[in-house]
Amino acid sequence: MKVLVTGGTGYIGSHTLIDLIENGYDVVCADNGCNSDTSSLLAIEKITGVKVPYFHIDLCDLSGAETIFKSHPDIQGVIHFAALKAVGESVEKPIQYFRNNIDSLINTLDLCLKYDVKAFIFSSSCTVYGDVSSSPVDENTPLQEAASPYGRTKQIGEQIITDTIKNKSLKSILLRYFNPAGAHPSGHLGESPINPPQNLVPVITETAIGKRNSMTVYGDDYPTRDGSCVRDYIHVCDLAHAHTLALNYIFEGLQSIQTEIFNVGIGNGLTVLEIIRAFEKVSGEKLNYQIGGRRPGDIMAIYSDYRKAKNLLGWNPKYNVNDIMHTAWLWEKNRSNPK
Ligand SMILES: NC(=O)c1ccc[n+]([C@@H]2O[C@H](COP(=O)([O-])OP(=O)(O)OC[C@H]3O[C@@H](n4cnc5c(N)ncnc54)[C@H](O)[C@@H]3O)[C@@H](O)[C@H]2O)c1
Repeated sequence: MKVLVTGGTGYIGSHTLIDLIENGYDVVCADNGCNSDTSSLLAIEKITGVKVPYFHIDLCDLSGAETIFKSHPDIQGVIHFAALKAVGESVEKPIQYFRNNIDSLINTLDLCLKYDVKAFIFSSSCTVYGDVSSSPVDENTPLQEAASPYGRTKQIGEQIITDTIKNKSLKSILLRYFNPAGAHPSGHLGESPINPPQNLVPVITETAIGKRNSMTVYGDDYPTRDGSCVRDYIHVCDLAHAHTLALNYIFEGLQSIQTEIFNVGIGNGLTVLEIIRAFEKVSGEKLNYQIGGRRPGDIMAIYSDYRKAKNLLGWNPKYNVNDIMHTAWLWEKNRSNPK
């Protein structure tokens, strides 16, 4: 079974390529390199022994994107990771986010229908829930106004997919990720974006290793346990495996409806300050951070009810917050001082 992974040299895509390969899928990768490079493919080869076919392509270019399907007309599944993902940046540059995330999605879907693809998995996000009043959220929790243009691209993306594949043979799964973090346990692969990371864990490890002098905690006046925001941190390898299970679910004929939605988080809300403390404990490093004001686009707290993924996909996350910190720190040390 051949699967195209868009955004495959990026953080979650590259870990998912490994999980797919380890579970017997034949994979193809496409990326335009706007936030990653092909070093992740070398790491994948080191870990799995498989050299992944790679297309350096911008999915906003329909004819360019079609070259992938012309070369691999036997693609039966597509996992669509390709997108810009920085919440704060999307507030500054909404047009760039709408153009990239929506055009690339429409083109990919168009080609899936043209080339008779059977399964489409979409990287959605808990940001679609907006500023929720309570957690945990499940898949039936009503969506609020998106707190950022990035979140809006995910809400619109979910609707575009649902409308486009209605009454078609293509089935889709929308995976709403919570906060992916950590790295591959081998220490060869992890988060290594071209643009400065905005997610908490790489900012922590970059500060600890000295790439940044200090870091900011955005807000300590939220009505939470310690005043900082609460999020649901999920190990990237657990998240990667959810994609393999989602594909299996469609290919094994278990999905009766056209589009299914699954939360992918571990249901454990931790504050930013608790994450910092967990890092300090696991690494033995003291982190230089200061408290700043609230950041536009951030919401106070969100964590998941993931029972649907557990019951239907058979998904059982196996890593905890200490594993996240351990693997993220191992990766940071390896990439900062390559042997
Ligand atoms: N990391 C998170 O916190 C998080 C949370 C929820 C959802 N997501 C979603 O998961 C997906 C993957 O995120 P990630 O953390 O791996 O990000 P990432 O930036 O590491 O990976 C995304 C990849 O897509 C590529 N890309 C972007 N636009 C493209 C285009 N037009 N054509 C081809 N390639 C393009 C980038 O170069 C990058 O390699 C994204 O859709 C993101 O919105 C991420």
